Amino acid sequence: MCGIIGYTGESEALSKMTKGLSVLEYRGYDSVGVALQEDGEIKTVKCRGRIGDLEEKLKQSPSHARCAIGHTRWATHGGPSDRNAHPHRVGSTVLVHNGIIENHKQLKERLIDLGVEFSSETDTEVAAALLDLHYQTCNDPVKAIRRAMEELTGSYAFGILFDGAKGEVYAVRSGSPLILAKGKDGYYLASDMTALLPFTNLYYPLKEGEIARLTPTEAKLFDDESKEHAPTWEQTDMTAEAAQKDGFAHFMLKEIFEEAKAVENALASRVDENGLPDFAQDGIDAAFWKRIRNIQIVACGSAMHAGLIGARLIEDYAAIPTSVYIASEYRYHPPVTGEGTLVIVVSQSGETADSLAALRYAKSVGIPTLGIVNAVGTTIAREADYCIYTYAGPEIAVATTKGYCTQVAVLYLLALHFAKIRQTMSPTRIKGLLDGLRVETPYAIAEMLTQERMQAYRRIAQVFQDRDHAFYIGRGRDYLLSMEGALKLKEISYVHTEAYASGELKHGTISLIEDGTPVIALCTEPSLAEKAENNVHEVESRGAHVIRIYRADCLKKHEADTDTIVLNAKSDIACFFSAMIAVQMIAYEAAVRRGCDIDRPRNLAKSVTVE
Ligand code: G6P
Repeated sequence: MCGIIGYTGESEALSKMTKGLSVLEYRGYDSVGVALQEDGEIKTVKCRGRIGDLEEKLKQSPSHARCAIGHTRWATHGGPSDRNAHPHRVGSTVLVHNGIIENHKQLKERLIDLGVEFSSETDTEVAAALLDLHYQTCNDPVKAIRRAMEELTGSYAFGILFDGAKGEVYAVRSGSPLILAKGKDGYYLASDMTALLPFTNLYYPLKEGEIARLTPTEAKLFDDESKEHAPTWEQTDMTAEAAQKDGFAHFMLKEIFEEAKAVENALASRVDENGLPDFAQDGIDAAFWKRIRNIQIVACGSAMHAGLIGARLIEDYAAIPTSVYIASEYRYHPPVTGEGTLVIVVSQSGETADSLAALRYAKSVGIPTLGIVNAVGTTIAREADYCIYTYAGPEIAVATTKGYCTQVAVLYLLALHFAKIRQTMSPTRIKGLLDGLRVETPYAIAEMLTQERMQAYRRIAQVFQDRDHAFYIGRGRDYLLSMEGALKLKEISYVHTEAYASGELKHGTISLIEDGTPVIALCTEPSLAEKAENNVHEVESRGAHVIRIYRADCLKKHEADTDTIVLNAKSDIACFFSAMIAVQMIAYEAAVRRGCDIDRPRNLAKSVTVE
């Protein structure tokens, strides 16, 4: 992954770099650097660590540069170190890179034979050397980039400065995202528009293979034939404020509090006057829906967990066979497809490389595709045949909360939509189920975030203070939510947590239950409550410290204790979302107690643009 930013114009560039990079940190945060062009000279300052470390270093060398590129890194080739931090300079070329150059070994050998000396272990330095080799030969940045592209394989988004190209920033992308933007005081580039919102809202998503040259007064694009044209700017309605913490201690907490509104946004304009699902505004025609006979949902991480819920709902409500695939596995062992197959790719960022590769595979074999994406204008949103946006707004915390929540909301709506199209349920029943999401859920979520609830999460999370292993258990949909609960807990608090179908634990894994092992048991399906509770007794009698998250009517009176979270919602879907808030909040409070870096968990990045 990694985050890239660049600017050229009439204002001072350094503060723009640090401001933008601090927003982009969600893409990687093990090292950081900038290249500043001033009086024709390019100076690079970089270090292992975060923006704060770079700012310390920059105090020793103040800059008034008006042209710069910057980078925040998530290490792939070469560990996090000052040396491996970007930008990388080779000869007259200074480069920041997001992605992976797959043929870097072969290229490096060739370049070493030509006398190039490398000072880092990165694939990026190899790309810089290749660019420089061509730049030295033709002395033309656009030609040099085009020639280097012919030799590079893998994925990349580059921001480039060349000695001798004063005030000019070059950019190109293949497989990794890059956005250009136009401000009042100059031109910008970044991996993601949120980094540029403090400066402008006019943007242009750079196309695959297109080369951009930014100068203080214009932006030019060069296509395959090196023909020149100007970008067509689009306007985003995202605001910089939406990417601020607003007084919350962490972005994750703020984003959990935004979930009720996010569900409303995801549904707005998708419910017709009869209270039934309607995707007409998404530009999807009725004939498209009718052709679908089976569905494959492909995604990674939490988006895949949302997909699991979606598949269950689609099968339950619309009787369409639906399977879920981990995106990184999908194209290497593609499932059988046939007439009427639809591939749905779910992605918050819209840029996840594994999901994108699966989407492209599906398209290459002629399967219709539908993206369920949050970030507007991103690659998956653009390349899928159809796209339904989740409208969760910018999600900054690395661990997703409102992104997942809106993915489930949209999939629920989609399941009911299929039920309407296929007439598997009466309109009255569909409306009733949709009301559970549209009318009851926002209140249910708010009720899960009262002061009293927050105290309960805090109290319950104490158990994780000195525990390194835990389990989530549940049956039916609760098992699927358990997977997300376990991922949330482990990714931000580093408590090793596994999710098990309640009935499966006894087939081996129950041997890991010791005195005090935390087991979080979910139960929101009354029809499964009795069996689920039996499984809870099995672990309790072996010493587990059980935390129950139970729907009120799944709970017998004597089962409620201080470690029980009672869900008061009435409908199934509102109960599901109430339980979701509880698992997210327990993970959050556990991470707070354990002193973890909640918004930037170790080793992770939010948008994983490498396979
Ligand atoms: C990364 C994030 C996860 C996320 C996954 C898929 O691994 O850390 O939180 O669920 O990518 O991301 P996407 O943007 O495709 O939903």
